[in-house]
Amino acid sequence: MWLACAAMALPAAWTSYLACTGKLGTNPLEALIREPGRWALNYLMGALAVSPARHLAVILSKRVGWGYGKRLSDWNWLIRLRRPIGLAAFFYALAHLAVYLVFDLNWNLDDLADDLREKPYIMAGVACFVILLPLAITSTDGWMKRLKGRWKQLHYSVYAAGLLAVLHYQFLSKPGVSAPSYYEGLLGLMLGARIILHLMRKSPAQERIDGAVPERERTHASAHPNSPGATAQTNADAKPVPSASPDAPN
Ligand code: HEM
Repeated sequence: MWLACAAMALPAAWTSYLACTGKLGTNPLEALIREPGRWALNYLMGALAVSPARHLAVILSKRVGWGYGKRLSDWNWLIRLRRPIGLAAFFYALAHLAVYLVFDLNWNLDDLADDLREKPYIMAGVACFVILLPLAITSTDGWMKRLKGRWKQLHYSVYAAGLLAVLHYQFLSKPGVSAPSYYEGLLGLMLGARIILHLMRKSPAQERIDGAVPERERTHASAHPNSPGATAQTNADAKPVPSASPDAPN
């Protein structure tokens, strides 16, 4: 886990190194704003990809006949990575906003108000950040317990954050720049996967395939903790795992 966190901090360390050594190119301020923005978007997409990737891994494992990974619960370690990935997205977005406010606007909040009025991409970026902020704050186990069922609902808004981030990128890019459309395609795929998984989850047969247990068996299992149903429940996603990006989509 710590290794993953260190790896996610590398782009920040590298950009800081380039900034300190004057190697950020001909427009250092633009590079300093854009780099953390790009990484915030990458990590946000990464957090959204965790659930579909986990389901895809199970399908692949079954098709290819790997000795490992046929049950959804085998990939729970991926879910544990989602919180640090989501938090990385938030901290890069915070750095992106800080550089823009301090070095570009010189803390002039009237200029910020003008930008919000005149530039749709600033409006989309700020809206995205406003959604990410409560998600980051409530990403802890404590908040998860406090909010109970509402936690999951709140964390579904990461999809709205993803949409706004992609719009932000699209609005600020010059015509003909193709990078934003790659992110749009990726987001479309992940939303599509999310909808399919949601529909599949409704079926008790699918719950069995996933290693989870239909509701009525869960009740039974909790009455008899040593029953096979109880084991399946502990193995699978019965307990949601916190994430800065939500999901819901375990
Ligand atoms: C917090 C409010 C935000 C503000 C005020 C803001 C502002 C900006 C500005 C001024 C630029 C540079 C535009 C240019 O050079 O013409 C930019 C670029 C960018 N921002 Fe934001 N942004 C915000 C939030 C976000 C968030 C939350 C994300 C992603 C999750 C994001 C992702 C990006 C990306 C991907 C770029 C383009 C990077 C590139 O060209 O490689 N921004 N943003």
